[in-house]
Amino acid sequence: MSEDPARYPRDESLWLATTPPTDYDPIEDGLTVDVAVIGGGITGLSTAINLIEAGRTVAVVEADRIVSGVTGHTTAKLTSLHGLIYDELLSEFGRSEADQYATANEAAIDEVESRAASADIDCEFERTAAYTYSTSTDDLDTIRAEVRAAQSLGLPASFVESTPLPFDVEGAVKFEEQAAFHPRKYLLAVAEQVHGDGSYVFEETQAQDVDPGSPCTVDTERGSITADDVVIATHFPFFDRAGYFSRMHPHMAYLLAVQLSESPPEGMYYSTNTPADTIRHRRTVDGQDMLLVGGQSHKPGEKDISTKERYRRCEAFAREYFPVESVEYRWSTMDYSTVDGVPFIGQIDPFTDSVYVGAGFSGWGMTGGTAAGMIISDLIVDGSSPWAEVFDPQRLTPGASTKEFVTENAEVGVDFLKDWAATVLSPDEVPVDLNEASVTRHDGRPVGIFRDGDGSVHAVSAICPHMGCLVRWNDAERTWDCPCHGSRFDYDGDVISGPALDGLESREL
Ligand SMILES: Cc1cc2nc3c(=O)[nH]c(=O)nc-3n(C[C@H](O)[C@H](O)[C@H](O)COP(=O)(O)OP(=O)(O)OC[C@H]3O[C@@H](n4cnc5c(N)ncnc54)[C@H](O)[C@@H]3O)c2cc1C
Ligand code: FES
Repeated sequence: MSEDPARYPRDESLWLATTPPTDYDPIEDGLTVDVAVIGGGITGLSTAINLIEAGRTVAVVEADRIVSGVTGHTTAKLTSLHGLIYDELLSEFGRSEADQYATANEAAIDEVESRAASADIDCEFERTAAYTYSTSTDDLDTIRAEVRAAQSLGLPASFVESTPLPFDVEGAVKFEEQAAFHPRKYLLAVAEQVHGDGSYVFEETQAQDVDPGSPCTVDTERGSITADDVVIATHFPFFDRAGYFSRMHPHMAYLLAVQLSESPPEGMYYSTNTPADTIRHRRTVDGQDMLLVGGQSHKPGEKDISTKERYRRCEAFAREYFPVESVEYRWSTMDYSTVDGVPFIGQIDPFTDSVYVGAGFSGWGMTGGTAAGMIISDLIVDGSSPWAEVFDPQRLTPGASTKEFVTENAEVGVDFLKDWAATVLSPDEVPVDLNEASVTRHDGRPVGIFRDGDGSVHAVSAICPHMGCLVRWNDAERTWDCPCHGSRFDYDGDVISGPALDGLESREL
């Protein structure tokens, strides 16, 4: 699809803007397959294709359109360099588990490369180096420790004092032979391979419940599916009997795709400062080379800095260091982190052995989701995977990261109470200007009110149907975001992403 230069910047993901939309049918009647895979992002589609290659029939059930969730809004670095993690993995998990993490993520890069090559998928796959860099001497010991840890695990790591970036760094971990790609070009082709010969991709079909058993039943809004095994690949597991809502926390982040007056620097970058800056080039054969720049990560619904200001800061960073000609696209999305930074991949809870989950990729789901596809299909087909232990969702890893996590969850509780108190005490009125929104009390109930540019008022219940937190307004995306577990809703209350399955009820004023 050609890129229209007339309307920049677009509030749209580069990946969605440069690929055609999909139109798989929704499910109409109940059906039986070997495995039901719920969620059509990188985790679900990677799992589905591996299962099909192992001789299973599969139904992929997607609530919206495939590859339009987080996977359609990522930075798309395929790397086993995940910030700084290996030194901590060695001390908190041990060598064998750290080795499984490293090997699974390296194998995921190879998996995308070989699948793209064997199926002739033009997905802009390109081997390149990845860096975690610091501009402060304070982090040098940590960076050197990470290099030593990664080298001891056989990863292609080295310590460098300079990078191709146009500013000085004090030091960086460099991993050779990592990769960049176009996630939608890759996964739309994978979906085409999934659909057919007794396997299916269904869009606009929300799964609403799972009855685990022999066989399992998945209830969707349009019919049920019977399957021996079920894979929950919905980013946040909506089927939650193991307290995932208290073991994962969401973070929003922002990206710009910018055109430079010169070639973007080679490589993919992640900084050690907080919030981290993320940078990568996108190279195409038709000269649409761009630089992706972003970061500004925060909890969803955080009120102190507006979304517009976060985009402004991303742009200011880009313009300070790179010869930016234009900002072409800008978008935001959200990922979930786990208590120990390691994803949950495997049997979803101790009560069932036929429902699996892949979630909590902590910002690294391109390799994580691909690895989840290999691990879960191995667990279903062979009953084991050499990498399963470190990702086991039932694991317990008390350690340094736990303290930070407990604090984060405690903050969710405090926010919950503060938001309710502020709303209950707010005046019972509708004080909203054009293109503004607020959460207020109306008829004794919390209501989210947005007045659009024409003056029309869109009023919805401000109570998140997941677990009752109050939603907050996102001014740049024009969405209601839940600060507790990350559900997002459009201004008419329809669900954009869960864990909430139901939308915000509309309200009369
Ligand atoms: C700003 C940002 C940049 C990132 N950059 C990178 C990067 O460079 N490299 C990297 O490795 N990772 C990166 N990540 C992380 C990575 O993008 C995600 O971890 C990954 O895309 C998650 O994939 P997924 O398949 O689990 O989720 P998704 O892509 O969100 O797919 C889940 C799907 O399930 C569907 N769904 C939800 N509920 C239901 C239901 N009830 N029924 C049916 N369908 C349902 C959703 O509609 C969605 O399509 C980044 C994350 C962010 C936030
Ligand atoms: S997402 Fe859990 S309460 Fe809103």
